[in-house]
Amino acid sequence: MAGPMFIASTADLVIAQCQAGIIGAMPALNPRSTQALDADLARIAQNVGDMPWCINLVAHKTNERLAADLEVVLRHKVPIVVLALAADAGLVRQLQANGSLVFQDVIKNRHARKCAEMGVDGIIAVGAGAGGHTGDQSPFALVGEIREWWDGLLLLAGCIANGRGVLAAEALGADLAYIGSPFLASTEANTQPGFKQMLVDGSAKDVMVTRCFTGVDASFLRPSLVENGLDPDNLVPATQGGAINISNGGANQKAWRDIWSAGQGIGAIKQAGPAGEWIDWLARDYAAARRALGLPA
Ligand SMILES: Cc1cc2nc3c(=O)[nH]c(=O)nc-3n(C[C@H](O)[C@H](O)[C@H](O)COP(=O)(O)O)c2cc1C
Repeated sequence: MAGPMFIASTADLVIAQCQAGIIGAMPALNPRSTQALDADLARIAQNVGDMPWCINLVAHKTNERLAADLEVVLRHKVPIVVLALAADAGLVRQLQANGSLVFQDVIKNRHARKCAEMGVDGIIAVGAGAGGHTGDQSPFALVGEIREWWDGLLLLAGCIANGRGVLAAEALGADLAYIGSPFLASTEANTQPGFKQMLVDGSAKDVMVTRCFTGVDASFLRPSLVENGLDPDNLVPATQGGAINISNGGANQKAWRDIWSAGQGIGAIKQAGPAGEWIDWLARDYAAARRALGLPA
């Protein structure tokens, strides 16, 4: 499954992901208005057939578009909704009653238990090294703790960028891999050529975690900070007290638009190109990983 990415994911990317056989995903806030979201969802639905796809809703009081976007998501009966930030059981039930599966991402076992109590259909464990807002726990620990008590659908996110990574996620106990950063290099992604090239050139050493831009830990590309005139080793927090404010689509929209975020798995990104080609490669690489371990195809 693809991870939704602020600014970067587009309707074209969702369509390409689904047409290549994975679950495509996009944040509701990426189209610049609720009307544009409405048009995008109609276009996605028309183009993906029976493939499931996903919209990410930021369920936080500072998201001024939440009520209007939710109405559009309900009307289009979006197959999967990933909720971020402060979701409540009422919202989960409302979406489920309308036919959506509801997933929520977590970075700690304690948070996963809260999501289970809210009745979500899937838990996305975001481990250390993920792009965007990252976790800080090893996937071995995080998935291990959640799988002890959660029998439902479990997804693992963070640095999964090749076939061995997908197989490893399964071996740990996840049902699905949740992949973000490799799609930043997709032709269909709304990312500048310089961003795509930085991903191709970069590796784990180029990724740093800071809470200076959004108030919570997020991964950013060090060369991108330098290009913006910032010293990655001497950053000053932009938000005081760790408050999360996502009004207008992001705590600090500039942080996502000009200062580029990606996870530690970018070493696996060898070239920019159509999402479908990368997904085909991933399928071949996954088959090779299974063969290497003597597993049936
Ligand atoms: C540039 C960028 C923007 C992101 N924006 C969002 C977002 O708006 N909503 C969300 O739920 N996750 C967001 N994520 C997280 C991804 O959905 C996914 O969890 C993450 O990319 C997985 O880790 P990986 O990048 O190492 O594959 C973002 C990730 C990146 C790299």
